[in-house]
Amino acid sequence: MSRVPLPYSPKILELFRNPKNAGPMEDATVKAEAGSPVCGDVIVIYLKVNEDEVIEKASFESYGCAANIAAASILTEMVKGKSLRQAWMVSWKDVAKALGGLPSVKFHCGVLAVGALRRAVRTYYEQRGQKPEWLPEKPTLEERHALEAEEFAEALARRLGVEEG
Ligand code: FES
Repeated sequence: MSRVPLPYSPKILELFRNPKNAGPMEDATVKAEAGSPVCGDVIVIYLKVNEDEVIEKASFESYGCAANIAAASILTEMVKGKSLRQAWMVSWKDVAKALGGLPSVKFHCGVLAVGALRRAVRTYYEQRGQKPEWLPEKPTLEERHALEAEEFAEALARRLGVEEG
């Protein structure tokens, strides 16, 4: 059986082969891990944030597909030098555009990257007991598609049909 290759843009293929900002960050200020309920893949985002709440460095680890690696890579580039507030405003559509488009079956891979970043931003403020007025009370769509470890394990169990009852 042959598989039809996905119509990945040249940018996605380039970043998949040569991802920028890949790997853990030892001196990260905050990190967030997130799993996709759609495909079961996992991503980790690391941010180094200075006292002005500006992202000095961003990196990622992805256990996902080519689109996810490319999305996380370009996202970490896009948020470098931005304030946490500006980084929060980056949407998965901005990421898809910067990648030269994502195949529709791969939208969720970009959503996962942005969701993990937003989890990292939220975690940053939670750890400091702060609540900036621009930070939405409820999780955004991207965050809801980037589940925390516990929710993720439950979602996976449901997918695998091992839910109790
Ligand atoms: Fe899971 Fe792309 S298929 S992140």
